[in-house]
Amino acid sequence: MDRGGQARRFLTGALLAAACASALAAVATQAPLRAARWLPSERQARGLAQLPSECLTPAEDPRIARRIAIGRAAFRTPLLLGGQAARAGLSCDSCHRNGRGNPDFSFPGLSGAPGTADVTSSLMSSHRGDGVDNPTAIPDLAGPASQLKVSRERNTHALENFVRGLIVEEFDGPPPSALTLDGIAEYVRALSPQACPATQAQPIGLATYLSDARAALQAAQYALDARDPATARLMLSSARTALGMIDERYAVPSLSRERQGLRDADLELAAIQSAADAGDPNAASRIAAWLARMPRWSEPLRARESDSLFDQDRLAAAFPD
Ligand code: HEC
Repeated sequence: MDRGGQARRFLTGALLAAACASALAAVATQAPLRAARWLPSERQARGLAQLPSECLTPAEDPRIARRIAIGRAAFRTPLLLGGQAARAGLSCDSCHRNGRGNPDFSFPGLSGAPGTADVTSSLMSSHRGDGVDNPTAIPDLAGPASQLKVSRERNTHALENFVRGLIVEEFDGPPPSALTLDGIAEYVRALSPQACPATQAQPIGLATYLSDARAALQAAQYALDARDPATARLMLSSARTALGMIDERYAVPSLSRERQGLRDADLELAAIQSAADAGDPNAASRIAAWLARMPRWSEPLRARESDSLFDQDRLAAAFPD
């Protein structure tokens, strides 16, 4: 073994690790809302107030509909990507918001101009890191067929292979279960320009994340039905990600009671996660009970939504240009 080569590689690794740590530390010290950390300050208020509309064709075949639900939830949790991306709170959805693009995305060490990312960055990957700063525009996954880079054909599995490579190699994430990977591919296939609603953007409100949490838990039930606890855990984590998005918007002392209800609901999800991991047959009925109890804590949150950072004026005041 060439000892000099080994030492050089070690040194390069250490320098990269130090560069990553400082880029992520810089990111971690800012902003009360996580997604603000990857938005330039003059674009934060707008980027945190609305999402591009989702262009999703509902499936008629219930088996495909279940997979799309699993993929949609997996797309929205940082746990899928693992490694540095998960620690920074990045999910597929951070770059491809609602399955679209993100013209404002600007992550230190990963982006060039806003809206670009270097998916071969050593910041996120020990496999594909090429040491070269080469960010490219984040594509709209619901773009016209002629602009798509990866084939959506089912029989070639090109999309599954691409997404697997993204997770495992570009982001150093754990290999996704077959059901998760299938789900993400079906979700991406179901995105198309024909399914875009007339309005280009949708406002972000409490209802946005409550509905994401509900959908992720429905997907967790599908995963439990399929006896796939690893996927169920990912779905539960996606529901918890959605609750986290709500929690940070209610981080004001006058809302502490409402916020506590949310936090208790999250703790119950964490307990369900452990139960599912342990193969507890009651996990599914606990999810159903959790869903039935949702109004108890979500109604008080709804009543105070105008005092939270979901309110457009409060948001604009918290994130001045
Ligand atoms: C850090 C931002 C970022 C994250 C996170 C991210 N992507 Fe991307 N994605 C990009 C960029 C940039 C490209 C364009 C790469 C290129 O052209 O080589 C891309 C390309 C793609 C493409 C190919 C484009 C097409 O429509 O054919 C697909 C599919 C895709 N991403 C899906 C995903 C999925 C699924 C995830 C989560 C597992 C994900 N991306 C996470 C930035 C990101």
